[in-house]
Amino acid sequence: MKVTIIGSGNMANGIGTRIVAGGNSITLLARDEAEARKLADDLSKSKPGSVHGKKLEPTAIRDEIVILALPYNAVADVLSQVGPALAGRVVVDITNPMNATYDGLVTPQNSSAAEEIQKLLGSKSRVVKAFNTTFASTLVAGEVDDQPLDVFIAGDDQAAKQQVAKLVRDGGLNPIDAGPLQRARQLEQMAMLGITLQQPLGLGFKSGWKLVKSKK
Ligand SMILES: NC(=O)c1ccc[n+]([C@@H]2O[C@H](COP(=O)([O-])OP(=O)(O)OC[C@H]3O[C@@H](n4cnc5c(N)ncnc54)[C@H](OP(=O)(O)O)[C@@H]3O)[C@@H](O)[C@H]2O)c1
Repeated sequence: MKVTIIGSGNMANGIGTRIVAGGNSITLLARDEAEARKLADDLSKSKPGSVHGKKLEPTAIRDEIVILALPYNAVADVLSQVGPALAGRVVVDITNPMNATYDGLVTPQNSSAAEEIQKLLGSKSRVVKAFNTTFASTLVAGEVDDQPLDVFIAGDDQAAKQQVAKLVRDGGLNPIDAGPLQRARQLEQMAMLGITLQQPLGLGFKSGWKLVKSKK
């Protein structure tokens, strides 16, 4: 599979690491082309040629899956530049729309970042929520305490979710279909809880949410 990632920060590195490990390839787009190229060089060390870094512009978006590895408050700005180029594509929202004091979400009640992004893009793009409950460093490792990360996936388009699930599985992680896009509301609250527990429990952003299943 060929995937575009917009952003060159911690999550672009984490998700990018898993995509390369899964044998898939990436076009990495950033407003600063040098940053995109630098991360592309790092990510493709294990598999030369698997990641290309380019400047963020509409004509650079060619892949069916596009991951927005951006802060929530930058998404509207970026979509105002490249939104039309996302028509017909699967757009993966990984954001946690935390407020400035990190004790609440900035999205309207009865909505989620994913649903707000779907509204901005319109029905021509298929938005899928994923990776918002997995910390960047755990994605680089691919596991926590020798257990593969669970990646919760929400979306209204079944085929789009299946493509994202394949990408997750290829990267050695465990995809979980969490239901329709509206379930992003719970996933974003879940991530906020996870973030607020890091300091009091001394978890160092190296923890993960795991759904355990009884073998009995
Ligand atoms: N970090 C985690 O463990 C984690 C876990 C789950 C979900 N998330 C979510 O993942 C998203 C990305 O987090 P992160 O940790 O990767 O953040 P980050 O390290 O700060 O990276 C953010 C990226 O977004 C780019 N960006 C910011 N504003 C932009 C704009 N207006 N136009 C174009 N590019 C812009 C930055 O580019 P510049 O370098 O040019 O500023 C940078 O490449 C956030 O929504 C966060 O809530 C993070």
